[in-house]
Amino acid sequence: MLQEIKQNNLNLTVSSQEMGMKRRLLLVLTIVIVIIWFTSLRNRGTIGLSESVSSELEIAALKQNLAKLSSECRSWKPSRLDPHLPVIYAITPTYARPVQKAELTRLLHTLMLVPNLHWIIIEDAEVPSSLVANLLKNSGITYTHLTATTPKEWKLKEKESNWKKPRGVQQRNTALQWIRNNLKADDQGVIYFADDDNSYSLEMRDTQVVSVWPVGLAGGLMVEMPVLDPKTGHVKGWNSAWRPERPFPLDMAGFAINLSHFLKHTEAKFSFNVENGYQESEILRHLATRDQLEPKADNCTKVYVWHTRTEAPKLQAEKQLNKKGLKSHGGIEV
Ligand code: UGA
Ligand code: MN
Repeated sequence: MLQEIKQNNLNLTVSSQEMGMKRRLLLVLTIVIVIIWFTSLRNRGTIGLSESVSSELEIAALKQNLAKLSSECRSWKPSRLDPHLPVIYAITPTYARPVQKAELTRLLHTLMLVPNLHWIIIEDAEVPSSLVANLLKNSGITYTHLTATTPKEWKLKEKESNWKKPRGVQQRNTALQWIRNNLKADDQGVIYFADDDNSYSLEMRDTQVVSVWPVGLAGGLMVEMPVLDPKTGHVKGWNSAWRPERPFPLDMAGFAINLSHFLKHTEAKFSFNVENGYQESEILRHLATRDQLEPKADNCTKVYVWHTRTEAPKLQAEKQLNKKGLKSHGGIEV
């Protein structure tokens, strides 16, 4: 019996010892869990804080960048000069007609995007018009505004087909003369003929002698373009459909001349005394052989200029008003 009680006591002692161990274990576990939870909470707080500090810094840097960019935009000038680039002298004859301001605005906005561009604009008029003068003055572009009238016998009559007489001859020659009088042989530049009704992309600048490229919508084709010899890469001809027998069967918008090279050839100009469509050949015959031509626009595989022509607007209602001594535009320049 005594033996039994002892045994029971022992059992009781053992189980109470076990209980104590378990409780301690539970306590330690709880403490560990609480510590882990607390640490994670603190860490979360710290990461949140550093994240918000870094995004604030980022926002401040972005704000600074924005302020810098908007100040650069405000001081941006279309006539900005880059001494490392040759100057593009774009020669544009223009004449008064209902679409003139629209054409010139469109062309001006393209030219404004070209660095180092000098626009030589020649009005087919006795005196400079305020329309052209104001457009140029307010544009910020570098320009020279000239006038030269087409001789009366060479001026197209209102209903006359446009292929009967050449256009822009007198005006382009006046611009070329201005170049000869005002620029020096060691000036770096390229001469382009940019009619007021064409559409331009902004590529191509380097020309050593004369460069050529495709012209979209010219000569009755989707594209009129130089054909290159696959072996030499030189121009061997054009795909022209209209008067392909011309020495240079290309459009006025399809070539550029190096300025120094041009200045060495005083006889290079346009002429009234050549057949219809021979203006381009007339000037180029003094400046280059076919073999010397430099193909541009990715070896003549791209179209960067289009010979667009603007339909003359129908203004019957305006004419009716005019008969009554009235105008829809009154004092407004259109
Ligand atoms: C095509 C060519 O693209 C012209 O470069 C070329 O001068 C002309 O043929 C030609 O054979 O003489 P096209 O579109 O028919 O062009 O000619 P326009 O665009 O009517 O005239 C060419 C340039 O001369 C234009 O910049 C135009 O404003 C100007 N022009 C036209 C004048 O200065 N006065 C005029 O009486 C007519
Ligand atoms: Mn045209």
